[in-house]
Amino acid sequence: MATLATNVFEVLFENPFILPSGIVTETAEHKRAVEAGYGGITLKSFTFERREGNPLPRLWKYDAGLINSVGLRNAGIEEGSKEAGEFIKTYGAQAPIIVSLFATKIKEFLYLVEKIVPQAPAAIELNLSCPNVDDEFGKPLGMEKGAAGQIVAEVKKISGSIPVIAKLSPNVTNIAEIAKACADGGADGITAINTAGPGMIIDIKKRKPIIGAKMGGVSGPAILPIAVRCVYEIYNAVNIPIIGMGGVSTVTDIVQMFMAGSALVGIGTVTYTKGMKVIVELKQQLLDYMDQNNITDIKELIGVAHGA
Ligand SMILES: Cc1cc2nc3c(=O)[nH]c(=O)nc-3n(C[C@H](O)[C@H](O)[C@H](O)COP(=O)(O)O)c2cc1C
Repeated sequence: MATLATNVFEVLFENPFILPSGIVTETAEHKRAVEAGYGGITLKSFTFERREGNPLPRLWKYDAGLINSVGLRNAGIEEGSKEAGEFIKTYGAQAPIIVSLFATKIKEFLYLVEKIVPQAPAAIELNLSCPNVDDEFGKPLGMEKGAAGQIVAEVKKISGSIPVIAKLSPNVTNIAEIAKACADGGADGITAINTAGPGMIIDIKKRKPIIGAKMGGVSGPAILPIAVRCVYEIYNAVNIPIIGMGGVSTVTDIVQMFMAGSALVGIGTVTYTKGMKVIVELKQQLLDYMDQNNITDIKELIGVAHGA
């Protein structure tokens, strides 16, 4: 009998499907995701200070996905770490809870990590890739290998036994090189990819960009081939598990992600467009695929597109 359960970062996931950071933002929605049956939940990225986010509208649905410029709207680490702690206490036994952190300085990252370690998340994801904060901060920290490796190495000194995952952007010339720097810095895993772009959609009646911040990150089916390529390249460069995400909507997309090298798969924008019930369908469809192909363990699929 095929099983979806999988052990990654020495953490047991009942199934390999992760709710990516920011797809939902409220505690009640994260709770619904646990109940719907996601194998793991990544909370919305927390920053040092409270952030109201970018001007409205922040999100727009189009034929091939979403464009968003939420701008890391969150309560800030003081309130966020308490919220995360309570959530982990209540739901952590049902599904591993990953906490996502975003900072613009290494010192700030370390402060966030210090605050979150006592809450004992299943893992800490360092968002080295948010595209929607450029105006205020300049280029996100960690979009080049030197800084990315350094952040991970510093964080690893204070994260204890909690796995540290680096989340990378596709909007770079060499994602594999950045992933390798993170692995060399001691990262326990890589998440790829954050949104692509930035992109822009123009309202032709109003004759101006639809999104309040004019441009935003692109997610959903449009970016699947970019995500698969990124995971493939990262798998060639590192020996740590990859959480592959970006446009995954169907069981075929999921299998592609495993074959490219993912150990876990993020189910993001499709959750937003189809609702959380999608996870129930995808779990069954993956089990059916495994049965039809005589696969009992997901690990049999990881990286097979690379050949022997
Ligand atoms: C509305 C929205 C908000 C997001 N917020 C975050 C965030 O706070 N932190 C983060 O690391 N990624 C964030 N992301 C990126 C997703 O976690 C994911 O990497 C990306 O959407 C690609 O996966 P998908 O195509 O399955 O959605 C956000 C994406 C969307 C659509």
